[in-house]
Amino acid sequence: MIKTIRSVVALRTFDWNSRRRRLARCGNIDDLRLLAKRQLPAGVFDYFDGAAETEWSLANNSAKFDQVHLQPRVLVDVSNVNAATTVMGQTLPNGFALSPTGFTRIAGSPGELAVAKVAAKHGVPYTLSTLGTRSIEEVAAVSDGPLWYQLYVWKDRGLSRELVQRAKAAGYKAIMVTVDTAVFGRRDRDVRRGFTLPPKIGLETFVDGIRHPRWTLDFVTHEPITFSAVAGRGDVDGSTAITLSDYVNSQFDASLSWRDLDWVRSESGLPIMLKGIQSVADATRARDEGVEAIALSNHGGRQFDGSPAPIELLPAVVDAVGDGIEVLVDGGVRRGSDVVKALALGARAVMFGRPYLYGMGAAGELGVEWVIDYFNAGIARTMALLGATDVASLREITCECEWTASARPS
Ligand SMILES: Cc1cc2nc3c(=O)[nH]c(=O)nc-3n(C[C@H](O)[C@H](O)[C@H](O)COP(=O)(O)O)c2cc1C
Repeated sequence: MIKTIRSVVALRTFDWNSRRRRLARCGNIDDLRLLAKRQLPAGVFDYFDGAAETEWSLANNSAKFDQVHLQPRVLVDVSNVNAATTVMGQTLPNGFALSPTGFTRIAGSPGELAVAKVAAKHGVPYTLSTLGTRSIEEVAAVSDGPLWYQLYVWKDRGLSRELVQRAKAAGYKAIMVTVDTAVFGRRDRDVRRGFTLPPKIGLETFVDGIRHPRWTLDFVTHEPITFSAVAGRGDVDGSTAITLSDYVNSQFDASLSWRDLDWVRSESGLPIMLKGIQSVADATRARDEGVEAIALSNHGGRQFDGSPAPIELLPAVVDAVGDGIEVLVDGGVRRGSDVVKALALGARAVMFGRPYLYGMGAAGELGVEWVIDYFNAGIARTMALLGATDVASLREITCECEWTASARPS
């Protein structure tokens, strides 16, 4: 009898690691998001998860991927598929890189170090934010993979100069200038909670902290979180609690314009990507200015609420700029198939932010690893199902986008 039961009931081996156990029950990024929501205090989760005003752009960024349809080809040998591409001379093994996100340490004390380590292990480029909570040099020390540095241009140009030069000296391969943040978007969830960085401890935060003991213990037993790029400069390092909106509006240069790009280039001598392009006209201008790459992006819906979804803008931008500039898509990417759809529509590559933050919040470094594995598997599976073996053959697949009668090719 025991033998019979054994033959029909295979018991799962119990995993003593509770984080791995929880991750094993996640089927997709939505599940991971819910897991992160349970693990993090509400204010922290909302800071990652939230977006500007009505959050229409946030929802629309992902929704537009559902409106892209690809026609699979069959009887193609797909025993080997490869979505490798290059951006600014760096190889992206599976067509994607990681977007910069400020204040990553608030999800867990290793913060940017955990994300950079996992990215390096997989050869995926990682972008460190100006508002990072681990320094340029700390991140470089744990990563032997490609690193890019995201720049917000400070009113204090000397500080910007210092940052790009430090990034170059530490081996970062490109500067990503974020151009959608002339002023800070209004994020209603953060406003409602009076959210500051670092978080101020009020009664509500206190209760939330008790309800999330693992996060709270980690937070109180590690060194205080500051903006590491400017650590030690008490006026700007974030050691006193401030809303991100006040910080950005008081420190970053709202007068930044096209004519400043030469300055960034001459200070760093590195290739430049403009992140936050939201129109065909600006994409064309970037190409004409000789910028190496652009990321179509609305900051994950966190800046202007109502801007087009990056994937929606892609076909028209690719048509307009041709091969004159590398075009990336950033925002709303939640599945391997989203990456593949963007590549098929002509994107050079794709980036995402929240997915790895959810991973970090749900299970630290293991969670980030889960996300990269999830995307890698999803990209390989989707390409095989489409009968495409590489990015060139993906571009031969017939694509239809619901928002335009015909995209390309037909
Ligand atoms: C919590 C959070 C912090 C972010 N911080 C930055 C930042 O410091 N600099 C920047 O250029 N973009 C920042 N972004 C935007 C991301 O780089 C990226 O554009 C966005 O996350 C893409 O959308 P997705 O989250 O749907 O993938 C941030 C996004 C989030 C969610």
